[in-house]
Amino acid sequence: NKIGVIFDLDGVIVDTAKYHFLAWKQLANHLGFEFTEAHNELLKGVSRVRSLEILLDIGKVSLSEEKKQEYLKSKNEHYLKYIMKMGPEEILPGANALLDKLDNLGIEYVLGSASKNAPLILKQVNLFERFSGIVDGNSVTKAKPDPEVFLIGAQKLNLKPEQCVVFEDAIAGVEAANKANMISIGIGDKNTLHEADFNFKSLTEIPHDFFTAVIPEKIM
Ligand code: G6P
Ligand code: MG
Repeated sequence: NKIGVIFDLDGVIVDTAKYHFLAWKQLANHLGFEFTEAHNELLKGVSRVRSLEILLDIGKVSLSEEKKQEYLKSKNEHYLKYIMKMGPEEILPGANALLDKLDNLGIEYVLGSASKNAPLILKQVNLFERFSGIVDGNSVTKAKPDPEVFLIGAQKLNLKPEQCVVFEDAIAGVEAANKANMISIGIGDKNTLHEADFNFKSLTEIPHDFFTAVIPEKIM
C-alpha cells in the first residue's frame, strides 16, 4: 500500500511563524493595539488576507479596502526582510533527517502551504529541489481549513487522499487534512492540535518505524 507525505512549511520545516508574528505585531501596534503570541496562534496556517481580517477583529478596527491592501503589502515587505536573511541553519530540527528517511524509503513528498512566499523560503533554505511538487498560496483558491491545498497535493503525488500523511503545526491545517480524509500529524502543542491523528512535539520525535509500521497499519 503506497503512501505519500504532504508537508506544511511554516512551523513544520522552518520556523517562519516568529517572523509573521513580528510583522503582524508591528502592524497591530501601529494601529494602536496589542498583539500576543496567543493571538498569533489564530493566524497560523491561515492565508495572508484572512490573517489581516482576524487581526483587525482582534483590535476591533475597521479599514477601507484600500487601506487593507496597503497594510497587506507593507506587512509582506516587512516579513520578506526577515526571509531574505534566512539560510539552511533555520531548517527545524529533524526536518532534514526526515526527508532523508523518506528518500531512503522511496516515499514521495510534496509541499502543501498557504504561503505565497513558499517557493522563495524553500530556496532560501536550499530545500526547493527536494520536493516532488509544491502547492502553495499561489495555486489554491480556498485557504485552510478548506482541504483544497492538500487535495491538489494528493494529485501531485498520484495518490488517493487516504494514502496521504500530512504534517501540520496549525489548527486550520490539521482541520484541512482531516477534511481531506488524510492522516494528520500535529507538530507542536498536543492540546492545541488535539484533532490530529498523531501528535509530536517536533519532527525529531517521530518513531523510527512510523512509515514502515505505524502508518501502514493505520491505513489498512
Ligand atoms: C502560512 C502561515 C500563515 C501565513 C500564510 C500565508 O500558512 O502559517 O501564518 O499567513 O502561510 O503566508 P504568506 O507568506 O503568503 O503571507
Ligand atoms: Mg504551518
